Amino acid sequence: MTILDGKKTSNDIKNEIKVEVDKMKANGEKVPHLAAVIVGNDGASLTYVGSKVRACERVGFESTLVKMSSTTSEIELLDKIEELNQDTDIDGFIVQLPLPPQIDTQKVLLAVDPDKDVDGFHPTNFGKMALDMSTFIPATPFGILELLERYDVSTKGKHTVVIGRSHIVGRPMSILMGRKGFPGNSTVTLTHSHTKNITQITSQADIIITALGVPGFLKAEMVKDDAVIIDVGITRVPDEARERGYYITGDVDYDAVSKKASYITPVPGGVGPMTIAMLLKNTLLARERHRAMRK
Ligand code: GUN
Repeated sequence: MTILDGKKTSNDIKNEIKVEVDKMKANGEKVPHLAAVIVGNDGASLTYVGSKVRACERVGFESTLVKMSSTTSEIELLDKIEELNQDTDIDGFIVQLPLPPQIDTQKVLLAVDPDKDVDGFHPTNFGKMALDMSTFIPATPFGILELLERYDVSTKGKHTVVIGRSHIVGRPMSILMGRKGFPGNSTVTLTHSHTKNITQITSQADIIITALGVPGFLKAEMVKDDAVIIDVGITRVPDEARERGYYITGDVDYDAVSKKASYITPVPGGVGPMTIAMLLKNTLLARERHRAMRK
C-alpha cells in the first residue's frame, strides 16, 4: 500500500511555484496577487483562508485578505467583488464558501470575473472544464488529479466511483475522471444520497473518491482489494482532550480500509494541502495570462 502524501507533494509544488516567482522577481516583473474574501466567523473557513494567505507568503505571492462581518448584505458583497474585478493589481480572487444565509451563493459566483476566478466556480469556467478547454480547474479536484499524476496511478479503463455530488468536488471530479487523457479515461459512477445499494457499487470500484463529510463512512467491506482510495472528507470532531478542542478526520475508516487499498490519501495530510497548492497554481496561471495580455 502506498500513501498518497499530499503534504509532501504540495510542498514540492509550492517549491516549483516559488522558483517561477523568483524568476519573475529577477526579471523585475509583477508577482501574482491573490485576494481572498471571507464573510463571517466560521472557524474552519477562517482556518482555511488563513492557510491560503500563509501559502502565498511562502511562495512569494502578494495576498490580500478581505474580512467582512457575518451581517454583510448581498449588495455589499457584490460591490466588493466588483471592486476586486476592477482592481488591475489583483490577478485572482476567491470568495470562501459557505456564505451566510442572507447571501445568494450563485449570484456571488456569477459576479466574479471568470478571468480572475481562480476557484474555477464560475459557470463559464465550469463549462470550459467540461468541454476540455483550458481554464481554471477547481482546486480540490485539480489537487486530486495532480496526486494521481505524480504517483502515476493508472486511471485508464478503471471504474471510478465518486461519492457526493457537490459543485466543488464530486460533480467536477466525475467530469474530470471521464475526460480523455491522463488522469482520466475512467468509467465514472457518481453516487449521492439517493443512490441505492451503495456497497454493491463501491465494492466494484477500482478508484473511490469520497467527498461527503461523514466520518468513517467508507468501511473495509465496501472496498475491493487493491482499490485506490481518495478521501476528501474533512470533519472536525469535538475532543476536549486536545488542545484545539477537536481533531480532523475523513470519510474513510482509515485503519481498516488502508489494509486493503493499493493507494490511499490520509486525513489530514492528503487532499487538503493539495487544494491550497493548486489554488496557488491557478493564481500563477492567472498572472501568466494577464502578463500575456499586458495587464
Ligand atoms: N469552501 C470549501 N472549499 C472551498 C474552496 O475550494 N474554495 C472556496 N472559495 N470555498 C471553499
